[in-house]
Amino acid sequence: MPNKQIKIHSPLDMHIHFRDREMMKVVAPLSAYSFAGGVIMPNLIPPVDNIQYLQEYKVRLTSSVEGYRFEPFLTVFFRDYSYEELEQLKPLIIGVKLYPAGVTTNSETGVQGLEDVENTIGYLEKLDIPLMIHGETKGFVLEREKEFLPVYERLAKKFPKLKIIMEHITTAKSLETLDRYDNLFATITLYHLLITLNDLAGGLLKPHLFCKPIAKKPEDRQALINAAINAHPKVMFGSDSAPHSVDKKECAACGAGVFTAPIALQGLVDLFDKHDALENLQLFVSNNAQRIYGIEPIKKTVVLERTPYKVPHKFGNVVPMFAGSEIPWSICEIIT
Ligand code: NCD
Ligand code: ZN
Repeated sequence: MPNKQIKIHSPLDMHIHFRDREMMKVVAPLSAYSFAGGVIMPNLIPPVDNIQYLQEYKVRLTSSVEGYRFEPFLTVFFRDYSYEELEQLKPLIIGVKLYPAGVTTNSETGVQGLEDVENTIGYLEKLDIPLMIHGETKGFVLEREKEFLPVYERLAKKFPKLKIIMEHITTAKSLETLDRYDNLFATITLYHLLITLNDLAGGLLKPHLFCKPIAKKPEDRQALINAAINAHPKVMFGSDSAPHSVDKKECAACGAGVFTAPIALQGLVDLFDKHDALENLQLFVSNNAQRIYGIEPIKKTVVLERTPYKVPHKFGNVVPMFAGSEIPWSICEIIT
């Protein structure tokens, strides 16, 4: 009997960190190999927040994925933009990413007070540019996402035509909020579907599982799994693959971010297979995002089969999630 296979058409990763230059050359091809497109986050140092920088970054990015059938969807870092600036940026971007100042990696120059930037948010609504948000406060680490929910509600009500993406949600409460407003949508990562706080800190500390938002309780993970495997129509896959060099992870002040690009699709197939929900994976990993963002991705079919994939210990100097272990599924063919 041949091994069980599954075909995924034009998989999309709606939240990825490619970084820049040497790091980008290592990590971008890994996503470009297995996905047909992805949303590239702008939290570089300095952040991508003007048209010239965006155009220069796009040149480097395009060359780092050369030879792959992959469309990068670019974003810019939220700041107080003028209407004209956003009009100019619109044809080049899929959305604007808002980070409250200091809540995660490279977000120091993020927004200090959301009330002060509502003009810009109004322009986004007018121009029909989606707003992606890292929805956390600087409160107690397990409560940060919950504490941010009233902000989502206020924005959803005040800007009813603005498409707001709640990035990498981690709690059952966020799903409830998502369901209450037509203009809220969300991404879910693979690692928040797989791990809880116990995996990170319940035994020996695992720096390669440390990310923001931090992994939560089993009941939260279960709520996320239910949304994903049932292909909740307002939820899309966004890996939040966030590479840091090994010296920045295995040290006294470990940076937040889990590198999942090389295992994302294999891990998703395994999860959906274990829940007998493979028929819903196509929606979660592509079709929902196409509908929500109104995009038509590159045609590319990825075939996976139930043959173990041995995850390398490192890609360049970055350690991936599940380094050195086996995932039951591997990519066996890419049809373009
Ligand atoms: C991301 C990074 O490293 O850029 N880190 C993370 O822990 N997820 C930033 C982010 O998406 O929060
Ligand atoms: Zn991210």
